[in-house]
Order: sequence, then structure tokens, then C-alpha cells
Amino acid sequence: MCGIVGVLGTHEVSPIIVEALRRLEYRGYDSAGIATVNAEGALDRRRAVGKLVNLSDVLVHDPLPGKAGIGHTRWATHGAANEGNAHPHRAGKVAVVHNGIIENFAALRDELTADGVTFESQTDTETVACLVARRIDAGATPVEAVREVLGRLEGAYSLLFLFEGETDLMIAARKGSPLAIGHGDGEMYVGSDAIALAPLTDRITYLEEGDWAVITRAGAEIFDRNGNIANREVRKVAVDATRIEKAGYKHFMMKEIAEQPTVVDRVLDAYLDADGSIAMTLPDVDFTKVSRISIVACGTAYYAGLVAKYWFEHYARLPVDIDVASEFRYREPPLPEGTLAVYVSQSGETADTLAALRYTDGKASRIVSLVNSAESSIARESDVAVPIHAGVEVSVASTKAFTAMLTTFAVMVLKAASERGVMDADTLAGHIQSLRQLPGLMSHAISIDGELARTARKVAQSRDVLFLGRGQMFPLALEGALKLKEISYLHAEGYASGELKHGPIALVDKNTPTVVLAPHDGLFEKTVSNMQEVMARGGRVLLISDAKAIAATGGGVWRTITMPDAPELVQPILYAIPAQLLAYHAAIAKGTDVDQPRNLAKSVTVE
Ligand code: F6R
Repeated sequence: MCGIVGVLGTHEVSPIIVEALRRLEYRGYDSAGIATVNAEGALDRRRAVGKLVNLSDVLVHDPLPGKAGIGHTRWATHGAANEGNAHPHRAGKVAVVHNGIIENFAALRDELTADGVTFESQTDTETVACLVARRIDAGATPVEAVREVLGRLEGAYSLLFLFEGETDLMIAARKGSPLAIGHGDGEMYVGSDAIALAPLTDRITYLEEGDWAVITRAGAEIFDRNGNIANREVRKVAVDATRIEKAGYKHFMMKEIAEQPTVVDRVLDAYLDADGSIAMTLPDVDFTKVSRISIVACGTAYYAGLVAKYWFEHYARLPVDIDVASEFRYREPPLPEGTLAVYVSQSGETADTLAALRYTDGKASRIVSLVNSAESSIARESDVAVPIHAGVEVSVASTKAFTAMLTTFAVMVLKAASERGVMDADTLAGHIQSLRQLPGLMSHAISIDGELARTARKVAQSRDVLFLGRGQMFPLALEGALKLKEISYLHAEGYASGELKHGPIALVDKNTPTVVLAPHDGLFEKTVSNMQEVMARGGRVLLISDAKAIAATGGGVWRTITMPDAPELVQPILYAIPAQLLAYHAAIAKGTDVDQPRNLAKSVTVE
């Protein structure tokens, strides 16, 4: 969610903070702001509604001097996206930026109001600034004031404070939302992830849950949740500064779609040996002893898990329950003995997924997570973290992380199937060969871009779009619909093809395209019947399939997109590409903000 940056520098920090915020803008872009302390110790701030570029404009006309500063890019929770609610929030001698939610803020605010404090904003964050400022006014040092106030805050948050009169001090606190401290040469930095700090330093200390840190240019003194000094390791983090550039593409989303053959290749290299054997290690996970798998995730990661359910059940004969994390955590489901819990998350920080993981701790036989960030909370709190190797994903709409999750799952499923003795060596070798064909097939699918763009321009003229898929392609229908609504704002719904006649068929008319994702497989005849049902009611079918299946439809289809033939196992991974490209080009046709669609943010660290 919101992005946080802090710098105790040796030069003017405003431009450095803006640049670091630019790298975090995908986390939220409702408003942005900076506060600095100048050489005389004066605390001042600038804020602007909307994207970071608006803040840059403000700073051009009204610069903010100072070699110590904090900055923020916001995804609104409490209070509308306006300048008054933008961070940093200031009270007296204190400025603070915040990511997360202070759950008891209403009670704290009432207490302050009763004492005569008036608030400028509707945010929970301003309450924190006021509480700290009052302690300082009463004679506490900044460190004492923050320590006392942290003890009163409930919820999941990360906070970063700056103080009037203190040219060499920031205080950071982490409870539920990650914070990274960067070590420079005579400079110190704070970021809500290491990506923000990548051009500044690769020496990072991650705060642990409940930690808070007093930071000066000389270094960071870190305290744990009990107030004891904590020795946290300084690690070298390999975040390549260039990796968040668009590399000539108009949007990060298109760049990330195009990267998928490389990403899948990287995943396969990580988890398969050159001789075709499986190299994935899952310490202490014995699939012969696993009785059931419970997969939990949100959004696109959930759809990856849903494909994996089909695969684990079909290929490894393992029953799978799958839940969206926000439901799972409150349903308090019993976990039968031998349940392997599997969490899937690109960011590794999704609040609902993390809470669900914590619920299963001690109940599941083992907790495995598929994550893109090895340093994330979900990775750190799992028994086994399996990296998906997608690389930094900047576009808010997830693309390469989805296919990387699927590829990782595919190898895990084959490992489970072979360990459980339900797949013979030849079949296994055949599937591994299929996976190895995938990067080439994906490149072929990406080359259909022009045709998909023409079709997408037509689709973009509709108000509603239906997506259908059957079996392992059903989750792809859900993902295709999600991608389209996320970035083009068209209303789209995904259904299992067989469900159409149980209700959604009422939506079919000549203005509602039905996108059918259906490679030729054992169920294709049934899908043809479902398409006929749509066409018989005047509906327009866009069939995305292979040449053999397209030839077998018998005509009457509005448009077709011809995909390369592909082995069954890899079809869901391959068909993600036309679904993504359709959404991308529909968004371009609608003129929406592809990489930063309205109301969304990457890494959803609030419930
Ligand atoms: C969709 C999208 C979201 C995420 C979801 C989970 O394009 O990006 O639906 O998939 O918020 O995020 P992670 O995978 O970070 O847990």
C-alpha cells in the first residue's frame, strides 16, 4: 500500500526522496508529500493530491530545502484523497508518514479532542503526530515520546517520524507493515521496501515485527518489541536499480507481459535440472504423508492457486481446498491432520494472506509459500518459501507473477505426483518436456499482439464482457475478467462454461462479447455446445483457441484468435497471455491509466 521513504543525507534530500518515491508509486498514488528539516532545524512540508508528478511541480515552484527528510505516496484508507489528508502529517514539532491502519485511532482521537486538540485531517495518522507532539511539549525527548506513543497504538502499521530542531534524527517503527533501513556512506535511509532504496544503497537491515529504530547519520539503533536492543543483520540485497525501468515499452504492464518467456525459463532453470529431473527442494515436506492441501491467496494469486487445485487433484491425486484469504481467516476452518498449507503472494505482504498464514501456524503439518520476495513477511513466516523468480513487478495489474506462480506450481505438482507414485517416469518426462516448450510457445502467443489489439478495440466498445472456461481453463476465465475490469474499467465476469445456463446466460445479447478460452481438449465438444447457446441468443463469441479447435466449431463465431498447439499441462499458463493482452489493449483503447489504474494499489497491506 502506501510508500514510505526517509533520508538523512549529506546533500539536499527533496530530489532524492522524490526519486525514491517514484520507485514506490505503484504502492499508491492518491497523493504524495515530503517533509524536511533544514539546516536551522525548521520543519516544513509540501503535499499534493494525485500522482507524484504533481508534488514535483509543487517543489519546482516552492522548493523544500534540508538534508533530512521523509516522504510518502498514499493509498487512501481513512479520509478522502485530498491535500489535507496527504502525508506527512504534522503536529507541533513532529512530522510523520504512515503505512497501514491505527485501529484504535477513534478512541485516541476522542481523547485528544476532549483535551482541546483540533484536527486538520480525517486520517488516523494525524492522531499519532498529535500524541507524540504532546509528549514532546510536555518535556519528553523525541525518543521517549515515540516509545510511549508506540505502546498505545493498535493495528498494523509502519511509521517514520521527523522532528523540528533535529537535523540528524529519524525514528522508524514496524508492526505489521515492512520497513527497510538502508546504510550509506555517512547517510542513512528508510524505505517501505528495498526497491525504493536500490539506487542509494544495497546494504539493508529489515526491521522485524515490533521493532523500532532510532536513526542518525552514524547508524541505526534498533529496539525489539520489549524495548531491548536488537542486533539485526545488515544484508547485501541484490536489487538491480535498472530493473524498474520501462526499457522502451510504453507501459510496465506490456514490458512485464513480454518478459514472461524469460521469467518462465528462469523458473524452470531454478526448479528443473538440465537432465530433466526435478530440482525443487521442499525441506520436510513429504508428499506421501500429505493428506490434503489448503491453498490460500487473494486476487490473481488466488486464481493461480485455483489452477493448481485442478493440477494437484488431476496429476498428483491430492485433494485441495482453496480459499480467498479474507474469507479463510475469519471462517476458522479446521485443518485435518496431514494438511499442507500453501500460501501464494507476489508481494508477500498481503495483509489477509499473512493473517491466514498466521492462523494455520501450529495447525498445518507444514506451511509453504510461493512468493516473489524472499524478504517478505509471508516468506519469512513460512516453513518453506519457494521463490517464483518473476523479478520486480511494477504494473499494478499482475501478469508475469501469475505465470511464474503457475510454472512454480506445475513443477511442485509433478514433484508431488512422482513422490506419491501416481505418475510413471515416462509421463513425468513428457510433462517436463512440455514445460520446457513453454517459453517458445509464450513468445509465439505474444506475437499475436496485433490481432489481439484489433479485437480488443472492438471489445472496448462494450459495457459488459463475459469470460468462459472449463476445467483448468475456468480460473483463466476468472483471471481474464479480473484483468479486463482492473485496467479498462469494463464490467467483466468469468464463469465456468457449464454454469452459463444456470444464470449468466440472461446477460447475453448482441452487445455483450463472450470470450471463450478453450484449447482443444477432451472437453472441447462441451464448450462448443456452450458457445452455440450464446450464439443462438444473438451473442458474439470471441474464441481463443488452437487451429484444430477453431476448425471444429462449425462457424458462426464472431472472432477467433489462433493460439499455438500446446500440451495440456501448460495450456493455462500459455492462455494467460491473450487474456492479458486483451485487457491491455482494451485499456489503451479506453485511454485509462494502464499501470496505475484508479482505486488500486500493489501490495495490499490493509484488510
Ligand atoms: C490483480 C492483482 C491482485 C493481486 C492480489 C494479491 O492483477 O494484482 O489481485 O493478485 O492483490 O496480491 P499478492 O499476490 O501480492 O498477495
